[in-house]
Parts: sequence; C-alpha cells; structure tokens
Amino acid sequence: MARSLVFLGGGPESLSFLPQKERVFGYLPGFYKIFPTMKRIGLVGATGAVGLEVQKLIKQLKLPYKELRLLASQKSGGVETTCGFVQELIPDSFNGLDVAIFSAGADISQKFAPEAVKRGCIVIDNSAAFRQKPEVPLIIPEINASDLKNHRGIISNPNCCTTIALMALAPLHQAFGLSRFFASTYQAVSGTGLAAIKELDSQIRAWSANQELIPSVYPAPIAFNVIPKVEDFSESGYTQEENKMLFESRKILHLPQLSVSSTCVRVPVFRCHSIAINAEFEKPIDLPTAKKALLDFSGLEFLENQLPMPSLSSEKTSCFVGRLRKDSAFCNGLSLWVVGDQLWKGAALNALQILSLL
Ligand SMILES: NC(=O)c1ccc[n+]([C@@H]2O[C@H](COP(=O)([O-])OP(=O)(O)OC[C@H]3O[C@@H](n4cnc5c(N)ncnc54)[C@H](OP(=O)(O)O)[C@@H]3O)[C@@H](O)[C@H]2O)c1
Repeated sequence: MARSLVFLGGGPESLSFLPQKERVFGYLPGFYKIFPTMKRIGLVGATGAVGLEVQKLIKQLKLPYKELRLLASQKSGGVETTCGFVQELIPDSFNGLDVAIFSAGADISQKFAPEAVKRGCIVIDNSAAFRQKPEVPLIIPEINASDLKNHRGIISNPNCCTTIALMALAPLHQAFGLSRFFASTYQAVSGTGLAAIKELDSQIRAWSANQELIPSVYPAPIAFNVIPKVEDFSESGYTQEENKMLFESRKILHLPQLSVSSTCVRVPVFRCHSIAINAEFEKPIDLPTAKKALLDFSGLEFLENQLPMPSLSSEKTSCFVGRLRKDSAFCNGLSLWVVGDQLWKGAALNALQILSLL
C-alpha cells in the first residue's frame, strides 16, 4: 500500500511532487475521486459533534460538492452552522440527494436510512444500526475498500475504537497473520457527543470552584476519574462497545475466527481515543519488519522516539502508533499503543473517505 500523505499542518503545498489533482485531494486515500463527480450530499445530525466535524473537514480539505443539505431535529431547524442553515429531518429531506452521511444515532438511522435508500440516496451511517448486517459493508478505506462493491444502498462506518485499533493492527496482520488481541481503551468524552463534552467542561469548572460534580451523561463524575464502562453491559459481562470491537474486527479483517477481548474505559480527555493493544500472531515476529509495516501503511504514523498521545493526534487525519515492543507474555506477540482522533478517523473523516470512493 502507498505511503501515507498526511495533512499535518504542512498542507497540500508540501506535496508539490504530486500532480495538481492529487495535491488537492490525494493526501487521503481516494479523495481525488470525488473531484470529477461532485455530489448532492445530505448530512443528518449536522448540529452534533460528528456532524460539525464533517463540515469542518469539508471546508478545511476544500472538498467540492453540488449541494450540502444540513439536517437535524425540529429544534435545530433554521440554525446556522459553518456550512449553512439546518433543516428539520423528514423523509422527503432525501429527495434529489446522491448520498447522505448519518450521524444522529441508531434510532434515527433505523427510521430514516431506508427512506433515503427508497429515494435513490446512498447512506453512509456512523451509527451501529446496520453494522452487523451481512449485506451492509463495514468500511475502513485503507483496509477493506474492496468490500464497498457489495453495498445495497447502506454502508456502515465502523465503531471509532475499532477503526483506530485496526489502523495499527491491519498492517501487522498483513505481515504476520493476526490470531488474537487484547485491548484496553482510553476513550475521550467527545465519543459520546456534545452533551458529554459539556459535562466534562462543567465538572472541571465545578471542581475549580469547590462545587459538587454532578453526573448526568455518565454514571459517575468523569472529571478527574476514569469509568470502566462504555455503553451498556451485555449478558456476557462485556459492554456493547467491547462486543463491537470483537464483531467489527472480524468483519473488517475477514477473520471470522479472530479472538478479541477488550476493556473499554472512558477517561477525562476531550478528544482522541487511545488504545493499548497486546496482539498475538501466527508467524514469528521481527521488530524491523513490524516497524516497516506500520511505517508504510497509509493513514498511519509510526512514532519511534515520540509518544503517541491525544494532544498530538487531535484534528489529525492520521492515527499514531508507538511503544512498539515484543510482547513478553505471547510467543509471537507485539505490544503497542495507538491513538487517533475518533471524531475524524473514527467518524467524520472515514465517512468522507468512503463518500469519495463512491
Ligand atoms: N462522537 C463520536 O466520536 C462518534 C464516533 C463514531 C460514531 N459516532 C456516532 O455518530 C452518531 C452521532 O454522534 P454525535 O457524537 O455527533 O452525537 P451528538 O453530538 O449528540 O449529536 C446528535 C445529532 O443528532 C441529531 N438528532 C437527534 N435527534 C434527532 C432527530 N429526532 N431528528 C434528526 N436529528 C436528530 C442532533 O440534532 P439536534 O441538535 O437538532 O438535537 C445532533 O445533530 C451516533 O450514532 C454515534 O454513535 C460518534
């Protein structure tokens, strides 16, 4: 796979060796393809944490479109965001659209995605509503873009932690054959949406003012705390978020027997999820090959002498991997730490990458 050409502040001008078209869109896989076929795009959940980042990316990356229709709940009708005025979502909102990015939760996706498809609009869904359906492709463009060809109108964007973990694991799987992994996540509050960002902010202020920290989004105060529960518990004792990591990794990597055990934890960080991974492989590990596999992978930065942290990866298109070492508990194992902006690569950016491939 081609070396990643990331947007790390250097901007397109640093890519002067590329032809003009790729200089504008080519630093992310497939982005230049959006150029010849501009689309009429709908954005459901335009006022939410993910929806606002989709608009920021469209502006920042100068992605061209014929129309961008911003949709949210009734209360947001007429509200102005960075890309225009918001309309209330109704079934006819999809008339005349080519594609719609859904970021308004699984219930809205369940209700409105079929309405969009009925009207000839392709849906890219950020929620978990359709991810388990065999006929719905679950896509990380750098890993399984070829699964897109099987779509029947709905394409799912994977869970944000799964995406960030697999951005590091996919190249290692290519090199050594992944057989199982253990993961502990350190998930930012923006992964829960705008209300959770406000909750952490207001609890930090309350703590500074010596006031009580009152939780409402989370089951306990999130400021100066960690909460070892992301989403509801399932019968097995794993949470739904942890189940997603297992199911979605199997589907994306085409490894139906893959074993995955994870513990998902919410931490008082505003943005970017971090994941500690211990992975076991079929083939013996050699570190230079592992490093090369990570260095060469599109959309991933391997850090040898720097720590991958949320403060580094915020608003970056790449994920960052480091702390790479042979795992001392596995025979053919690697330990690593990966971090990525879950609002971008875990949601908004990945959705736009998928859109650009249609
Ligand atoms: N946050 C992340 O990092 C992340 C990552 C991956 C996937 N996701 C998924 O993306 C989706 C959105 O997450 P978020 O974090 O952006 O949540 P959020 O900040 O809470 O935003 C929710 C959005 O949904 C809209 N909405 C709510 N009820 C609606 C209705 N009845 N009709 C139309 N729109 C409605 C809201 O509009 P109003 O403002 O009008 O209420 C708002 O725009 C969720 O499915 C989430 O699981 C999120």
